[in-house]
Amino acid sequence: MNQTQFQEPETLEDLIKQLHEIFSGDKINVEEVQTLMESYKSNPADWSKFAKFDKYRYVFVWLLRSSIHDHANSHCFLKILQGQLKETLYNWPDGNHKNQELTKKWEKTFLENQCTYINDTIGLHRVENVSHTEGAVSLHLYSPPFNSCHCFDERTGHKNQVNMTFWSRFGERTPFEASVSKENN
Ligand code: NI
Repeated sequence: MNQTQFQEPETLEDLIKQLHEIFSGDKINVEEVQTLMESYKSNPADWSKFAKFDKYRYVFVWLLRSSIHDHANSHCFLKILQGQLKETLYNWPDGNHKNQELTKKWEKTFLENQCTYINDTIGLHRVENVSHTEGAVSLHLYSPPFNSCHCFDERTGHKNQVNMTFWSRFGERTPFEASVSKENN
């Protein structure tokens, strides 16, 4: 592997600085970004003070449960800053068969400081906090940034275009449907 050497980021600021360097180039190495993001040991003192992230491509998400969604042909890295998140990966709907339930590829639980990666060639996903007692906070990096994506109905495979919406807790931008609670699963 021809990976760039990096220093383990001591703070979130260090991490973001190094990410900016990586993303200023033409090509990115997914494993390198993932390793770098995992090497930052989450410290709430670093990220709880942030209010506006929008000038970066980074968003902080206080997550309960996302819809099943795609990623507008972008790279998406998701690092767990606090708690645990379960990611369920789905295959794209089969275009030849309407009204068919989405098929699952796998489910994985990511722990604090771990980083998962997805793009549209990998599939669709849903991310959720399965704990009823502990909150989960995650850092999402989208490149290039996007303003809308698609949410999918698990039972029929039907999709809807949705705009990225702002949630209030950290002023973050998220690809999650306002109607998440209506879903029956
Ligand atoms: Ni996503």
